[in-house]
Amino acid sequence: MAYLEKVTSAKTDYSNLNYSLVCLGIFEDKELTSAQQKFDDAANGALSDVLENEDFRGESGQVEVLHFTQENLPKRLLLVGLGKKDNFNLNEMRKAAGTAVRNAQSRKIETFAVELFGSEASDNSISEQTQAVTEGLMLGSYQFTEYKTQDKDKIFLSKEAVILSENEVNSKDIERASAIARASMFARDLASYPSNELTPGRMADEAKKIAKRGGFKCTVYDREQFEKMGMGGLGGVAKGTDEPPKFILMEYNGGKKGDAPVAFVGKGITFDSGGISIKPSKSMDEMKFDMCGAGAVLGIFHAIADLKPEINGIGIAVSTENMPGGHAYKPGDILKAYNGKTIEVLNTDAEGRLALADGLSYASKEYNPKYMVNFATLTGAAVVALGHRATAIMGNDDDLVKDIIDAGEYTGERCWQLPLWDDYSQDMKSEIADVKNIGLQGAGTITAGAFLKEFVGETKWAHLDIAGTAWWSEDQPYVPKGPSGVGVRLIMRWLDQLPK
Ligand code: BES
Ligand code: ZN
Ligand code: ZN
Repeated sequence: MAYLEKVTSAKTDYSNLNYSLVCLGIFEDKELTSAQQKFDDAANGALSDVLENEDFRGESGQVEVLHFTQENLPKRLLLVGLGKKDNFNLNEMRKAAGTAVRNAQSRKIETFAVELFGSEASDNSISEQTQAVTEGLMLGSYQFTEYKTQDKDKIFLSKEAVILSENEVNSKDIERASAIARASMFARDLASYPSNELTPGRMADEAKKIAKRGGFKCTVYDREQFEKMGMGGLGGVAKGTDEPPKFILMEYNGGKKGDAPVAFVGKGITFDSGGISIKPSKSMDEMKFDMCGAGAVLGIFHAIADLKPEINGIGIAVSTENMPGGHAYKPGDILKAYNGKTIEVLNTDAEGRLALADGLSYASKEYNPKYMVNFATLTGAAVVALGHRATAIMGNDDDLVKDIIDAGEYTGERCWQLPLWDDYSQDMKSEIADVKNIGLQGAGTITAGAFLKEFVGETKWAHLDIAGTAWWSEDQPYVPKGPSGVGVRLIMRWLDQLPK
C-alpha cells in the first residue's frame, strides 16, 4: 500500500508561507478569515482579486490555482471550495483535505501545506477538526500500485502534508487519525488484492500479524476443524473449492476482566463465482471484493492494535472461495449451522449468509457478547436500494442501530436503516428444513438480514450490508476509485462513543 508518509503541523499567522503549494478553503460567501486576509495583504490583494471573478464560486470540491514568484509566498496557492457555511461539517473538511492531497500528487509536490479547512465555521473542536483533516489527507493519498511494472514515472506519492493553524495543533490527534486511516487503507488493500493472492490462508496470516503486533490472541480453524465443530454453513460453501477455507478468530482484552465483549463478524468470500448457481461472466471479476466484510473486521482490529481501546473485542472472519468444483454444494442441499438450525440451500450464490450463520452463532453462543455487529457485501439489492452512498443497516436493537447510524453521520460512512419485521422472517421458512437461504421475490437485502437474524440468538445485533459502499467505481475526494475500507472509521467512532 502507498500513502502519504507523514502529516505534521505548523503554527503560523500566514504572513510567510514558503511552500511549493499551500491549500486554502473558501466558502461560497467568499469571506476571508483573518489569517487569509493576512495572506492576501502579503500577496498584494491577489487572493481577493481572484475571488471577485465568477469562475471560482467556492462550491464544494471546486478548485482554482494561483502562481506566485515572491519570496515569502508559496509557489502555488490552491483554493478549495467548501460549499455553503450552513452545510459545513467534518466530512466537508475531509473532502477538502482529500481534494488537496490529490491535487498535490497530480502536481508531483512532495511537501505541501493545508489549512484546517473552514475551521472558523465549524462547530467541532480543534481536536476533531485535526483528525478529520488528517484522515482526508491520508485516505485521499492512497494508491494501490503493487502490480504496475510499467509507467512507474506516472506514479507519484506526496511525502508530507503540513497542517497550518493559528493555534497549536495536538500531534496526538494526528497520530490517532493516522492510525485509523492506516487501518482503513489496510482494509482497502485486502480488497484490492486479487483472489489468487488474497486467499483465505493469506487473510488468516494477516489476522495473525495484526494480533501479534497488538499482543492479542488469534486462532485459525481449518476445514476439518471447523466442520467438526459443527460449522456446516461455512463448510457447505467451501465444498466446491480446493483453496483451504479458514475460520479466523481474534480475541482482544482491553477492557475489564469478565466484561462481555463486543463481537464483529465479517463475510470473507475471497471470490464469489456464485458456485453451481453460477454468476454471469460479465463483471464476475468484481467478486474478488466479496471479502470486504472480513476486511472491515481485520481493519478494525488493525486500529485496535494501535489504539488499544478499553473494551473486550471478538473479531471473526468466515473465509472461503465460493466455487463450482466437483464437490460443490448444490441447490436443494441441506446444511446445519453452528447453532443447530438446518438450512435448505435454494441458491448457492446466496453463500455469504451461510458462512455468516456460523460466525454469528459461534460468537453469540461462545461469548454472549454485549453487542454483535456484522459486515458483508451481502446483496446486489443493497446497491439497487441505496447505490454507493449508504450502507444498509438492520438489527434487533434500535438503540444499537441508531448509535451506528450516528457514528456514520460523524465519519461520513452513512448508514440507512431497513425494517426487519417478523413478517420477513416468515418468508425465510423452508418446507423441508428450518430456514431456506433465499426469500420471496423482492426485498432481497431485508430477507438476507432476516436470515441472519435466525443465528444471533438473544444478542443485541446489527447487520451492515456494505455491497454498495465497499467499492467506488468513480473517484471521490478521499476515496480514490476502488475499495473504500468502509466500516473501520465507522466502528472506531462507535466504540469511542460507547459508555465506558
Ligand atoms: N456477493 C454477492 C452480493 C453482491 C452482488 C454484491 C452484486 C455486490 C454486487 C452475494 O453473494 C450474492 O450473490 N447475492 C445474491 C443473492 C441472491 C441469490 C438471493 C444477489 O444479491 O443477487
Ligand atoms: Zn453470491
Ligand atoms: Zn457473495
